[in-house]
Amino acid sequence: MSKKFYITTPIYYVNARPHIGHAYTTIACDTIARRQRLLGADTFFLTGTDEHGQKIERAAAAAGKTPQQYADEISSEFRQLWKRMKISNDDFIRTTEERHIKRTQELFRRIRDNGFIYKGTYTGQYCVSDELYVDGAQPGDPCPTCGRITETVHEENYFFKLSAFQDKLLELYANPDFIRPETRRNEVASFVQSGLRDLSITRSTFSWGIPVPDDPKQVIYVWFDALANYLTAIGYGSSHSGAQEAFRKYWPADVQMIGKEIVRFHCVYWPAFLMAAGLPLPNAIVAHGWLLFEESKMSKSRGNIVRTETILDVLGADALRYFLLREVVFGQDGSFSFDALVQRYNSDLANGLGNLASRTLTMINRYFNGEVPYSSHSGKPADDAIAQAAHRTIREFRTLFDQFQFSRALEYAWTLVAAVDKYIVENEPWALGEKKDEDSRSRLATVLYTAAEALRIATALAHPVMPEATANIWEQLGLGDIQKLALGELAWGQLPQGTKLGQIQPVFPRADKSAVERMQTMEDQQRVAPAADVVAAPAQTPAVAPTPGPATSEKISIDDFAKVELRVGLVKVAERVPKSDKLLRLEIDIGSEVRQVLAGIAEAYAPETLVGRKVVIVANLAPRKLRGMESNGMIVAASLDGGKPVLAGFLEDVPVGARLK
Ligand code: MSP
Repeated sequence: MSKKFYITTPIYYVNARPHIGHAYTTIACDTIARRQRLLGADTFFLTGTDEHGQKIERAAAAAGKTPQQYADEISSEFRQLWKRMKISNDDFIRTTEERHIKRTQELFRRIRDNGFIYKGTYTGQYCVSDELYVDGAQPGDPCPTCGRITETVHEENYFFKLSAFQDKLLELYANPDFIRPETRRNEVASFVQSGLRDLSITRSTFSWGIPVPDDPKQVIYVWFDALANYLTAIGYGSSHSGAQEAFRKYWPADVQMIGKEIVRFHCVYWPAFLMAAGLPLPNAIVAHGWLLFEESKMSKSRGNIVRTETILDVLGADALRYFLLREVVFGQDGSFSFDALVQRYNSDLANGLGNLASRTLTMINRYFNGEVPYSSHSGKPADDAIAQAAHRTIREFRTLFDQFQFSRALEYAWTLVAAVDKYIVENEPWALGEKKDEDSRSRLATVLYTAAEALRIATALAHPVMPEATANIWEQLGLGDIQKLALGELAWGQLPQGTKLGQIQPVFPRADKSAVERMQTMEDQQRVAPAADVVAAPAQTPAVAPTPGPATSEKISIDDFAKVELRVGLVKVAERVPKSDKLLRLEIDIGSEVRQVLAGIAEAYAPETLVGRKVVIVANLAPRKLRGMESNGMIVAASLDGGKPVLAGFLEDVPVGARLK
C-alpha cells in the first residue's frame, strides 16, 4: 500500500481579491503535493476559502452585497486563478458549504460533550481585521498584529477551556518537527509559557457564521470554523461511509502550511481543539514568511498588492512559480519586484534551462536525426563529472526539498544546468559535428547524450515547481507523459538510447526590457480600488481634498467619478501630530474598519471638537507616509480663501460607512 500524504494551505479570506502573497502559500503547497505524487504517495492537497465572520460581513455590506454574494464572487476568483496557475488541489472547500457547516457543528458538539466548552461573558478588545481577541488591551488600543484600533466587545459567549492545554501544548512543542522553522516554535512556546486564558469561541452580536448547535442565537467564532475545514473537507463528522473512510485514511495531515502571522491560531488553538476532540494532531505546521512589496507586507489593506494575473499574462505560471520559490528563502520575508522577476526569468529560465534544452535537442536533431545517440561511456573525467554532479543533485535536491528549503534546492539543481552549459561550451559539439571521423562522431554522441541526460534530470527535478514547461521539455525529449515519472527512482543513465525526440519548440522565450514596463503599466491600470484602509493625502496638502477651480476644470465622465470611493466616516480619535502646526492624526471609523488619516486641518480645528463628528473620506487613495506615519485616506473639505479648510458634513443623520454617489 502506498504511503498517504495530506497537505493543506490556509483557507483564504474572501474579503480581498487574490494577490501574489496568497499565490505564494499555494504554490509552495502545490509543489510539495506534486512531488509527493511523483514519489508515489497517495496525496490529498486541500485549499479553499474562509467566508464567515464579521470582517466578511462588513466588507460585503460596504460593497452593497449580501455576504453570500460577496463570498461567491471572490471565492470563484480564487478558484479560477488557481486553475491558471496550475494548482493541482484535490478539493476546494468553502466554509459556507453545507458539508462544512454540519461537520463543524459536529466538532463543536464533540468538544462540548468532552467537557471543554462552557458559557461565560466576554468583555475585552477584538480586532475585526484579524478576527482576533486581543488579551490585555484597553479600549482604543491598536491590534498588536495589524495596528488597527481594536473594538470593545461585551457578550455572553461560549468559552473553550484553552487554559487546560498549556502543559500538553508545551510537551507537543518539544517535538522539533511539529512547528517549523525553529524561530516560530520558540515564539509559540514562549507565548504558551506565559499562560493561556480560555478562549471565547462564539459570537452573538452578528449573524454571518455557523450557528452553535442547540443555541442558534450564537455563531461559532470564525477561527474555530475556519480551522475545522482541515477536518471537514476530508470527511470528519460525516455519516457517509466513503467520507469516513477518507477521513481515516488522510487524517492527520502531514504538512499544514501557513504564513507566519497565523502561527498562533494553528500552533496553539488548533492542536488544543484537536486534543479536546480526542483527535490526532497534524505531523507538521510549517510557517513561511511574507512577500513584501515596496518594503512592507503585500496586502490589500496597505494597497501594495501585485495581481497574479499580470505576471501570468506576461511571463506565465511557471515563471511566477519558479521565481517565488527560488527567490524567497523559505521561512523568511522576501521582496518582490518586477525587475528581479524578469532578471531571474531571463537568467535561469530563458538562458538557463530553456537554452540548455533548445541547444541540446537541436544538435541531436541535426547530427543524429532526432534520436538520442549511444554514449560510449568513455570514462573521460569531464563526462564523469557531469554524471557525478547529476547524482549529487538528485540526492541534495531531495534533502533540501524535504526540509522546505526550496530556494537552495533549486539553486543546487541550477548548478547542474550551469555545469552542463560549461561542459557543452568546452566540448564544442558543433565543431565535432563538422568532423566525419569515427572518433569525433563517437565523442559527439557521448557529449550530446551527457547533455540530454543532465537535461532530463534537471527537468524531472524541476517538474513539481514548473509543471507546464517541464512537461513540454519532457515531450521534446521523446519521453511522453511526465506525470508517469517515478521520481523516487530517478538516476543517471535512464535515458534510453534511440529515443526519438518530439517536436522542438522554445519553452521560455527571452523577456525583453519592455516586460517590466508592461507589467507595471498593467498593475497601474488595473489596480483595484482598495476597499479598505488604503491611502493617504498628497504630500503638500495632507489629507484634505483640494477644491477644484471653478469653471476651468476639465469635464469628467460619471465613470471617472465612480472611481472615487467617498464614504461617511466617524472620527473616533483626533490628536495633534508632534512638531507639526498643520497636521492632526485622526482615527476614522468607515464602517468596514477604523483608518488612520493624517489631515492638514490643525489650524482650523481643535482635535477635541472633531471626536464624534461625521466626515467624508476618500477611501480609495493609495496610502502615503507623512512624518513617518501612514495616512490611509483623505477627508473632504472646502478650501476657503486664505486656505482655511471647512470639513464637509451632513444635515441629516447618515450611517457610518455609507457611500456618497
Ligand atoms: N483565513 C485565514 C486563514 C484561515 S486557515 C484556517 C487567513 N486568510 S488570508 O487570506 O489572510 O491569508 C491566507 C494565507 O495567505 C496566509 O498563509 C497568509 O500568510 C498568506 N498571505 C497573505 N498575504 C501574504 C503575503 N504578502 N506574503 C506571504 N503570504 C501571504 O489568514
